Amino acid sequence: MTANAADVRRPSRIAILPPAVADQIAAGEVVERPASAVKELVENSLDAGATTIEVTIEDGGRTLIRVADDGSGMDRDDVLLAIERHATSKIRSAADLVGVSSFGFRGEALPAIASVSRMEIASATESGDGTIVRVSGGSVTDVSPTTRRPGTTVSVGQLFYNVPARQKFLRSARSEWRATVDSLIATALCRRDLRLGVTNDGKSALTLPPASTMRVRMAGIWGNAFSERFIDTDDVSGPIHVSGLIERPADVGTASRRIYLAVNGRPVRDAGIVRAAEAAYRSTITPGVRPSLFLEIVLPADSVDVNVHPAKAEVRFRDRWIVERAVEHAVRRALGEPGSAAFVGASRSWTYAPLSTVHARPVDVEVLDPRAAPAEGLFLAPPNVAASGEPAREPTRETSDIDVPPLVQLRRTYLMFERGEGVVLIDQHSAHERVLFEQFMNVLERGAAPSQRLLFPATLHLGPAEADAFEANREALLKLGFEIEPFGGHSIIVSAVPMPHPRFDALRCLRDTFDSLTGDRVPSTAARHERLAATVACKAAIKAGDVLSPAEMQALYIGLAATTLPAHDVHGRSTIVQITWDELDRRFGRK
Ligand SMILES: Nc1ncnc2c1ncn2[C@@H]1O[C@H](COP(=O)(O)OP(=O)(O)OP(=O)(O)O)[C@@H](O)[C@H]1O
Ligand SMILES: [Mg+2]
Repeated sequence: MTANAADVRRPSRIAILPPAVADQIAAGEVVERPASAVKELVENSLDAGATTIEVTIEDGGRTLIRVADDGSGMDRDDVLLAIERHATSKIRSAADLVGVSSFGFRGEALPAIASVSRMEIASATESGDGTIVRVSGGSVTDVSPTTRRPGTTVSVGQLFYNVPARQKFLRSARSEWRATVDSLIATALCRRDLRLGVTNDGKSALTLPPASTMRVRMAGIWGNAFSERFIDTDDVSGPIHVSGLIERPADVGTASRRIYLAVNGRPVRDAGIVRAAEAAYRSTITPGVRPSLFLEIVLPADSVDVNVHPAKAEVRFRDRWIVERAVEHAVRRALGEPGSAAFVGASRSWTYAPLSTVHARPVDVEVLDPRAAPAEGLFLAPPNVAASGEPAREPTRETSDIDVPPLVQLRRTYLMFERGEGVVLIDQHSAHERVLFEQFMNVLERGAAPSQRLLFPATLHLGPAEADAFEANREALLKLGFEIEPFGGHSIIVSAVPMPHPRFDALRCLRDTFDSLTGDRVPSTAARHERLAATVACKAAIKAGDVLSPAEMQALYIGLAATTLPAHDVHGRSTIVQITWDELDRRFGRK
């Protein structure tokens, strides 16, 4: 059989698609919906050095998407090239991909959008005349000269008019508009130097002047009240710089959640990084509620690949673990700052030094020095070492360096003091709980707590569920200083107990702990330790209603100042609440 005969009988099953079809298929990857077209066009404008961008949307982007910029513009030949596949001015070789800082680099977006719409590009450079090019379904229908200011305006009409399958998947104008505005907001947060105007169905939707900081940008988009819910984070771990704004724990869960992430200046999605940031919130918010996060990560260009997703919405890290740990560390550290504490009223104008910073005011003379009178002290072993897993405060301050402001106890429940620009209130139970929690975690991870042998070992009779809880936590309890032996049936004998403070009722604490740990299925050892430490800390801490001596108040202050998260208790409530003088003055009508 000759080759010719075979050709006649069996025509080839495989054929190369015409370029127009190939473009439409590629378009599906890059432009999924109007929002993705808007994103591509705006990114092109930014790459062209635009400082002002005007976006116009009609009918959710179905009828019209127009992006006008004041960037470098293109001359006639370049406009015609720009709509060819793989035509780009941004890279020349694969090597240029490493560390590419422009948003675009594939030379795909314009031809992809042009192949599924009726597009008009009007552009002019600083020096040359302007050009208008009209493209319909990927074919150029008209090229004509025009006069216009330098810059480019790309109008996309009837998106997907020639791809009915895609059109069917478009959602309501409203939901397409939402997706579009979300993507524009991500760009605006990322490029705060940009002046951005957005019009939707003839109405102005966003008018953002250039902003100096992320907070100012945020306020421009969602208002001042929203931006005040956030605290700054800024942290360097090795080659990784993490910065941004994270939601104050006391505010988490009270408004809709917003997430913004950027890696090396590109807005991206990344569930792993969000999880890492959320992990940093553990014990400061109730499990299940999720914080709003605005984080920017900058790392060496060769440790991240930006070319892994058709719409560049995701990146791949060479070492994801390191990046996630850096994010967790940065967030945890920010949560340790006093500004992360809850506020009464507005918080705009108060940023003060950590509790552990030496206080400027002289300490009242009649207040006892806690270090001189430890007998009464609440803390036999103040935790000046951070529990492992927690970022250590840097540099770890000797607790003896901490200067304590004059403290007042209110309603046997709160400690109050004045600091810089306002008043600070501490919940004595929550504070003590936080102190003990970190001490216990330290002990569980690093060794054993000193315990005190009971003169008469005590027998406790447990129910079956409590006996299970005892078995599950036996080793950890031993580390905490509880020496316990099973004693037939569900009984146990307690022969030694920890002594976190003189008022500690160990047996009652033990009973309560078993009670609250019953039926608990906590998967990892670390999580189990946290659970146990939190439970024992809660039971062991001084209560509201306990009168504290001046020395005890001071010891509590010092203990709290030395923790990693002084402003938050272990159940997701506030330990510290602050009111600025500004706020008080406002409420008293002084301002
Ligand atoms: N608004 C604009 N102003 C000036 N030049 C532009 C503009 N939009 C596109 N261009 C030019 O057209 C080229 C093609 O744009 P296109 O978006 O298709 O590809 P890209 O941006 O290079 O890569 P990618 O497909 O990754 O976005 C760009 O490289 C740029 O030179
Ligand atoms: Mg592009």
